[in-house]
Amino acid sequence: MKKDFLSIAELTKEEVFQLLALADSLKTQKDIKPLSGKTVAMIFQKPSLRTRVSFEVGVIQLGGQTIFLTDESVGLGARESAADVANVLSRFNDAIIARVYDHRLLLELAQYATVPVINALSDLSHPCQILADLYTIRQHGKLRDHVKIAYVGDGNNIVNSWLELASIIPIHLTLAIPFGYEPDSSLFEKAVQANVSKVEIIRDPRNAVNKADVVYTDAWTSLDREKEKTKRIFDFWEYQVNASLVRQAKKDVIVMHCLPAHRGEEITNDVLDGKQSVVNDQAENRLHIQKAIMATLIGKMS
Ligand code: CP
Ligand code: NVA
Repeated sequence: MKKDFLSIAELTKEEVFQLLALADSLKTQKDIKPLSGKTVAMIFQKPSLRTRVSFEVGVIQLGGQTIFLTDESVGLGARESAADVANVLSRFNDAIIARVYDHRLLLELAQYATVPVINALSDLSHPCQILADLYTIRQHGKLRDHVKIAYVGDGNNIVNSWLELASIIPIHLTLAIPFGYEPDSSLFEKAVQANVSKVEIIRDPRNAVNKADVVYTDAWTSLDREKEKTKRIFDFWEYQVNASLVRQAKKDVIVMHCLPAHRGEEITNDVLDGKQSVVNDQAENRLHIQKAIMATLIGKMS
């Protein structure tokens, strides 16, 4: 039975920690080639730097090859249904990695593909990013039960995936999010009901980051919200991660951002480039964790 990776919710706590451990092994043992002879199709409807490069480099390092398909060439869900695309790509490839505007396209791809489908970001979630973030938090010695993670900004796909992780491993997830920009309500409710983590929305960003181990932010305007940019800059101005805000957190706080950053909007230059920032580790760790995901789902180790 093929297994997809569309959301963090598909993982157990044990599987999360197995992926972190496998990422460690693959990071050091460069001669392991579980994707040898395999091809991976990548369909990206939106721009990407980190996700595309980390997946392509990861596949090459694991011994496989990628075929990158822009949305103009495929027309996923427009020129052809996701079901038809999934059927055809499954005949040639060993996996499909997709970045889509509408999460339902991922669900349809996964339903019809006979090979694993991996979510490379959708409007709903960004699971590979959040696993890489967890790996980064662990790398910096902060991963312990109920580590306080204060997310400041828009309740977007990043937050939704954090909520899914909070249902599995015990963290203290404090969300500083303005009214009207909350994350997916059912994912928030599920995280609360799971009773694994403390999950809360606090409107005042200074209260939210108080004694935090991790301060995390992301774009105020995600790729699919460009038309709302002016209004969002106005609505989010109190939610900027700047030096004064970061001072409310623990002294040894780490600052995270999945990137791309909008300097001077959600985060200031001094914080993004400062010594507490681990944003480039987050970017690098996309490679290690995605290699672990691919080795598990499509590698000869599966
Ligand atoms: N963080 C992230 O997914 O970056 P890209 O959009 O550049 O892939
Ligand atoms: N929330 C951002 C993440 C980019 C990696 C977006 O969806 O554009």
